[in-house]
Amino acid sequence: PNRTDFAARLVAWYDRHHRRLPWRVAPGERARGLRALPYRVWLSEIMLQQTTVAAVKPYYERFLRDWPDVESLAAAEREAVMKAWAGLGYYSRARNLKKCAEEVVARHDGVFPADVAALRALPGIGAYTSAAIAAIAFDIPVAVVDGNVERVVTRHAAIEAPVATVKKDIAAIVERWLPAERPGDFAQAMMDLGATICTPRAPACALCPVSADCAAFAAGEAERYPVKPAK
Ligand code: ADE
Repeated sequence: PNRTDFAARLVAWYDRHHRRLPWRVAPGERARGLRALPYRVWLSEIMLQQTTVAAVKPYYERFLRDWPDVESLAAAEREAVMKAWAGLGYYSRARNLKKCAEEVVARHDGVFPADVAALRALPGIGAYTSAAIAAIAFDIPVAVVDGNVERVVTRHAAIEAPVATVKKDIAAIVERWLPAERPGDFAQAMMDLGATICTPRAPACALCPVSADCAAFAAGEAERYPVKPAK
């Protein structure tokens, strides 16, 4: 069995199998100290909140072309931003996007704060998004937990309770796994594992870099997790 720790196995897998997404800096580049710009990470995370990667891609590219940085977005006409968002849905995201850009310019000199709490205080940035930006843009070691990550964790630890009742336990497990090195790639690797291997149906456990100590896999029951709440 594989004795190296969870994060080391996961990040090594990510180095080979990461999804190439327009808002990402490839792991090899990150290893040389390059990181995605906070503006790009923020924009992509807001768009990805309730929308699939495939749907987000063309919108992300268009926004970056029209408003390449937070100053230009803050200075944009509100109506132009709303129009560019049309089709993505959940339009409060677009209103908050504009407000957030204005606040970053007015209150933070146009620089996204490298701090979870300060990010969380900005319009449209909740618990998940503040953690995602902190990890991906600033390599702050913080647990980034979305639905994909909840599925990975409930399977790995064979958690028999519905997710809603064990959110704190799930975050604590991810915190235990967090590496001091490359926490941003670790966060994105968890997302990719959930999206491409540890999928809701028919998970590809044979290809999983962390199956060696996965309790659900050992029991041949990966697909049973996360368990549903009793009706
Ligand atoms: N979903 C939410 N954030 C994401 C990201 N940074 N990469 C891929 N999928 C995501």
